[in-house]
Amino acid sequence: MRGPTTAGQLLAWAKEVLARCPEPAREARRALVLATGHPHLFPEEKVSRFERGRFRRIVEARARGVPWPALEETTAFLDFEVLVPPGVFIPRPETEELAELASAEFRRAPPGARALDIGTGTGVLAIALARARPDGEVWAVDISLRAVRAACRNARRLGVHIEVRRSDGFSRVFGTFHVIVANPPYVARNELRRLPKEVRNFDPRRALDGGPDGLGFLRRLVQEAPTFLVPGGVLLLEMGIRHEEALWRTAQEMEEWREVRVLPDLSGRPRFFWGRRC
Ligand SMILES: C[S@@+](CC[C@H](N)C(=O)[O-])C[C@H]1O[C@@H](n2cnc3c(N)ncnc32)[C@H](O)[C@@H]1O
Repeated sequence: MRGPTTAGQLLAWAKEVLARCPEPAREARRALVLATGHPHLFPEEKVSRFERGRFRRIVEARARGVPWPALEETTAFLDFEVLVPPGVFIPRPETEELAELASAEFRRAPPGARALDIGTGTGVLAIALARARPDGEVWAVDISLRAVRAACRNARRLGVHIEVRRSDGFSRVFGTFHVIVANPPYVARNELRRLPKEVRNFDPRRALDGGPDGLGFLRRLVQEAPTFLVPGGVLLLEMGIRHEEALWRTAQEMEEWREVRVLPDLSGRPRFFWGRRC
């Protein structure tokens, strides 16, 4: 890309490279803002050599399917923004519904309430809980060290206190909680390669792979959570659309669950497991 040097020329070049994207013009402008840091450039404005190089790399990465949050290393969730370093799961809009359900439960809990987010990733669910109940105590765990670091950093940037730990499931969790929430890996292993390129190539496999039927970690959470819930405490899980029956059955076979429901997402699909401990 020796030729184009002005904003207008660069945008024209990028639109061609991004022709297969649904909105090439919008994508090209977003790339120029990210590369230059300027929200508005006139078409005839010259762009420095350094910024042109950065722009080219961003446009080419987008053309290869790299998602925007991976390029910008940041994403919005509810009314806040988190950093998304490489190797950490990019939070999805559907998880905002889970955050709202869990926050509503946490707000109803008594003074001194405790909440736990298992598989916290960037920390979005734990941060939402801590913002919902500034007087509460929130724990967040993840098996990935990168995720633990990201969650600590995001909590600090947003001024909330969260106890963040590296833990395989509940292995390093102590005490009991009023609310336990998780968006665990739940994609069936043989479906992983059928996921869109943006998911398959950029989200860590450990964040997606739920074992042969996608239910491995989900079942484990339903089975182990009662030990870590106060009587009447609530477990909320995001799950795959085909997991409803199997999870329901797992909970029915146990004596510890007083009430179990499967809640739909905004599009009406069964998406969230809700269970109240006896
Ligand atoms: C789908 S991501 C969800 C991340 C975040 N909660 C969100 O909604 O954006 C699943 C997370 O679970 C973590 N994880 C996978 N297996 C785990 C395990 N055995 N114990 C704790 N965390 C685990 C992954 O590292 C990943 O961060």
